Amino acid sequence: MAELIVALDVDSRAQAEAKVKEIGDAVGFYKIGLELFTAEGPDVVKAVKDLGKRVFLDLKFHDIPRTVERAVRSGARLGVDLMTIHSVGGRAMIGAAAAAAAEFGERGPRILAVTVLTSLDRTDLEDVGIAGRSPAEQVLAMAKFATSCGAHGLVCSPKEVGALSAELPSGTLFVTPGVRPAGGDVGDQKRVATPADAVRDGATHLVVGRPILCAADPAAAARAIRAEMGM
Ligand code: C5P
Repeated sequence: MAELIVALDVDSRAQAEAKVKEIGDAVGFYKIGLELFTAEGPDVVKAVKDLGKRVFLDLKFHDIPRTVERAVRSGARLGVDLMTIHSVGGRAMIGAAAAAAAEFGERGPRILAVTVLTSLDRTDLEDVGIAGRSPAEQVLAMAKFATSCGAHGLVCSPKEVGALSAELPSGTLFVTPGVRPAGGDVGDQKRVATPADAVRDGATHLVVGRPILCAADPAAAARAIRAEMGM
């Protein structure tokens, strides 16, 4: 059964707590990203955990293996459930992240790899020395690489998840942003899919921000998306 994660894209801990309380039982999982974490630090993670929610800490680590290993440990001590790394950090870095998570056993975070940022096109890849592969080919190659190094799953666009889930081992996590309810406002997302499409194509977790955060009734919006997911 796929899970709904709400992207807690707000500026402050006070707003974050207010949104989580307002959404209540309709959502049990929240993503905290760079903006909120840089503003409020670990306290905002603790606050969301204290409200009984699971946390996806989306900081996309990319550093030397020792630093990433220690950062994953810090996240695990905070009790986060999902964390992200960049797969271009290499085999040793991905392995170090997975090993640090494994020290915490079942309570430890699952490590998700970012393959190619969806903001990059073929020219951007060429600029950084990745020539001869389309973004889609690079996504698949990096997905296979990252999971072979120990990553538990991938962050991917809902347009990629079908191709990836067909090629990767069962049990791999597929976390997809860019999801919009059928007929909803897409905002600045260009390649969107509905919740039903994403789940049908193999997504295990859907990340949805504005369609819930900006709704007049965020709890009702979340319940409607869960219904579209078949939950
Ligand atoms: O508001 P919206 O539903 O577009 O939020 C999606 C969330 O997923 C945001 O936190 C955004 O940064 C994140 N994300 C994304 N596309 C990616 C990677 C992450 O939209 N390729």
